[in-house]
Amino acid sequence: MDIITIRLSDNKLVMLDQRKLPLEISYYIAKNKEEVFYAIKEMVVRGAPLIGVTAAYGMYISYLNGDNIEKTADYLAKARPTAVNLTWAIEKMMKAYYEERDLLEQAKAIHQEDVDTNYAIGNHLITLLGKKRNILTHCNAGILATTKYGTATSPFYIGKDLGINYKVYADETRPRLQGASLTAFELMESNIDVTVITDNMAAHIMSKGMIEAVITGCDRVAANGDVANKIGTLNVSIIAKFYNIPMYVAAPSSTIDMSIECGELIPIEEREPWEVTSRFGKQMTPDDVKVLNPAFDITPSNNITAIVTEKGIVYPPYIKNLKEKYEKS
Ligand code: MRU
Repeated sequence: MDIITIRLSDNKLVMLDQRKLPLEISYYIAKNKEEVFYAIKEMVVRGAPLIGVTAAYGMYISYLNGDNIEKTADYLAKARPTAVNLTWAIEKMMKAYYEERDLLEQAKAIHQEDVDTNYAIGNHLITLLGKKRNILTHCNAGILATTKYGTATSPFYIGKDLGINYKVYADETRPRLQGASLTAFELMESNIDVTVITDNMAAHIMSKGMIEAVITGCDRVAANGDVANKIGTLNVSIIAKFYNIPMYVAAPSSTIDMSIECGELIPIEEREPWEVTSRFGKQMTPDDVKVLNPAFDITPSNNITAIVTEKGIVYPPYIKNLKEKYEKS
């Protein structure tokens, strides 16, 4: 199956409903800004780059519906707070609007940029990995989080075409299980070797020498190289550092936020308790138990071996090296 996460059809936005995967392939169709907002907030679509592309098409649909486009921009920007790609895409659409450029062309350009960016990131990662084949990833930074290749998964897809076969370990990624449900699903669809582990198994398999590198995606990179990504990424980075395993972060330039000085200032989304207290409609905890559910955490830059963007590989010191390349992006 060719995985198509999003497409515009008859001025409606057709999105693969990721809440139903891997058991059901179905689509959610958005005809207006409210439905686009719902799709982002409720994670019909998710993953920083795909959230950006969805918002771009959402702005276009809203414009066609005769809405006040400035109000739509403010409205959609509130759908999810952590992934900076959301406001990045909205700002690009607003710029096109103010410059009286074609909004559909701009949305399509954002979509195409995602494809090209991910392909470039994949090639840089293949170079960086060299002979390493056993890779751990966390959450889903794959095709399902983007429109093609994924970011963290891009080397696996490009590598396959080049005859390089990676062995991927996918952290289950509680509470939403993006690793178990999404990363495992999409890699299996492409016959890429994937093994699911629960989140608490990562240290064990690293201690056994089974992992040669960690690759994750990210939702926002601060100017000092601190990275916001799915909750649990911080744990993985600490364990990887303990075992001297390189930790690479795949980051499109659209995810680098030079306006934010350090990770502490990145807004962290807090999601509803039911994601933690129940699974598949079944309650797993005592009634009224207290719950914390931050959806992301911050990995400090000193746990990160390299940040890989479409423009190349960025090494520490990140404050200096990110500034040189991304001050204006
Ligand atoms: O809550 P999600 O599923 O949107 O979180 C996704 C992640 O944390 C991804 O790792 C990140 O967005 C990068 S996707 C290329």
